[in-house]
Amino acid sequence: MQGVQLLLAISLFTLLFSFASASDPSPLQDFCVALKDAKNDDAVFVNGKFCKDPKLVTAQDFFFSGLNVPGNTTNQLGSKVTPVNVEQIPGLNTLGISLARIDYAPSGLNPPHTHPRATEILVLLQGTLSVGFVTSNPDHRLIAKVLYPGDVFVFPVGLIHFQFNIGKTNAVAFAGLSSQNPGVITIANAVFGSKPHFNPDVLSKAFQLDKNVVTRLQSRFG
Ligand SMILES: *[C@@H]1O[C@H](CO)[C@@H](O)[C@H](O)[C@H]1NC(C)=O
Repeated sequence: MQGVQLLLAISLFTLLFSFASASDPSPLQDFCVALKDAKNDDAVFVNGKFCKDPKLVTAQDFFFSGLNVPGNTTNQLGSKVTPVNVEQIPGLNTLGISLARIDYAPSGLNPPHTHPRATEILVLLQGTLSVGFVTSNPDHRLIAKVLYPGDVFVFPVGLIHFQFNIGKTNAVAFAGLSSQNPGVITIANAVFGSKPHFNPDVLSKAFQLDKNVVTRLQSRFG
């Protein structure tokens, strides 16, 4: 009996450990073009998407067009991210990589956010950006730099980072990300715009803010 329990404990540990792998799984075949709606889509869980029969795969499955078009930055932040991940290119499924174009109006901000599943490498093509990320507890060191065209900067996986256009012109950057589905957690929206809202007492204490300020922020972020 104890032997069985030990075996169970070991297999559970092995299982958990294999799920804790830090990046997208290495592909075990040439490719696995994602299928949106397999008939048994909701019956089985896979880490990624279902694969299209390789015989039916075409160049279109690995293709995206339009990243030359600037994103519309007419919004409160003055920035726009155009993602190109497995949702846009099904052929990226299981390949552990994706792309984004980011446009910034003057004073435009890509606000503090994290990618839970990807490191990001960003190249600035046009404009001037102030960028940075913050290291985890307990240091919270801000690692920051001003970027000019041709400059490249790395945001390590999971860390809070931002880009701010400090120039007088529009800015354009492209970013590579080490996941087919990097995920985005925008700090302000996640904290003050959760649905339903956090108990204001929680945020008041956590952020050392007056409760009125918290409820005002919560109504601003919906
Ligand atoms: C950009 O977005 C704004 C606000 O949503 C909208 O009014 C405007 O028409 C858009 N511009 C273009 C070129 O799509």
